[in-house]
Amino acid sequence: MKSIISTNLDKAVELLQACEIVALPTETVYGLAGNALSKDAISKIYVAKNRPQDNPLIVHVSDIEMARKLGLKVHPLAEQLAHEFWPGPLTMVLQKSDDCKLPPEISCGLESVGVRVPNSSVMLEIIKTSNLPLAAPSANLSGVPSPTTAAHVYVDLHDKIPLIIDGGACQIGIESTVVMFENDNHVNNKSENTIIILRPGAVTPEMLSAFGEVVLSDNESPLSPGTRYKHYSPKAKVIAVEGKVTGLGEHIIETPDSQTLFAKLRTLDELGAKTIYIQLPKSDGIGLALRNRIIRAAEFEVLKL
Ligand code: TXA
Ligand code: MG
Repeated sequence: MKSIISTNLDKAVELLQACEIVALPTETVYGLAGNALSKDAISKIYVAKNRPQDNPLIVHVSDIEMARKLGLKVHPLAEQLAHEFWPGPLTMVLQKSDDCKLPPEISCGLESVGVRVPNSSVMLEIIKTSNLPLAAPSANLSGVPSPTTAAHVYVDLHDKIPLIIDGGACQIGIESTVVMFENDNHVNNKSENTIIILRPGAVTPEMLSAFGEVVLSDNESPLSPGTRYKHYSPKAKVIAVEGKVTGLGEHIIETPDSQTLFAKLRTLDELGAKTIYIQLPKSDGIGLALRNRIIRAAEFEVLKL
């Protein structure tokens, strides 16, 4: 198989309805989408990405009503956050009700499912036309930097999927913020209004703090399985630097930004870079999410200068 790169959304809908998998652009990163109601499509996603079997997928819907109809319980805080941030780069982990329509394979048997409404006209149109909830992890091979262009997806998956929809470069460039709510999981003694950030993203703690007490889950937290694995790593060795990178080597990223970070890692690999030094930004705003991705790409090796 050789993937076709196209802008033909009807073809994408046709394939998704036949339980095939298709790469689609979102505002964060490209996603590898499949019918979230089909075990078969879910299994194809895991195989194509070589994704660990215990890392759950997130489900993309067109609005909160669609999440409710699938049998997900909408926490009162989720209702408020959806109103403020959807469509947009926020994934909310919601508890399943007894009559949840999503197969257990979607979230590896967990009692919860991550869900988001992407701010991508392409993906929204496809969800609406197909009337399907779409499971979609990032459309990269597991462990490497997420794809922010159709060409990145092609490099990773061209022999594994039939179609890549080209929507240009992603506006945000890093994956969505993932949150869950405290009284859903009784982890410690926080109030009902606690928002736990499992993965930082473009919806920042500052933005969320208007809605409740924000807690950052620590790096090795078992709450979000995906944060346990090696992630975002190019072939080159990445060294995260607390301080100035100027003069440290041939390949440096001085002022990383979300739009270009993953693309730069991929380009430096193509140039044959052996070591990449990346200056860690301050942790305010989206800086927190950038630090998270850089430190993981560096496999937690931080050089303090
Ligand atoms: O921006 C994004 O979120 C992109 C685009 C395509 O929408 N998708 C994405 O998916 O980044 P993925 O699979 O690469 O990351 C989803 C994250 C993982 O860390 C996963 O462990 C976590 O969400 N997650 C999914 N379901 C969960 C659940 N039920 N409980 C806790 N964490 C969950
Ligand atoms: Mg991913």
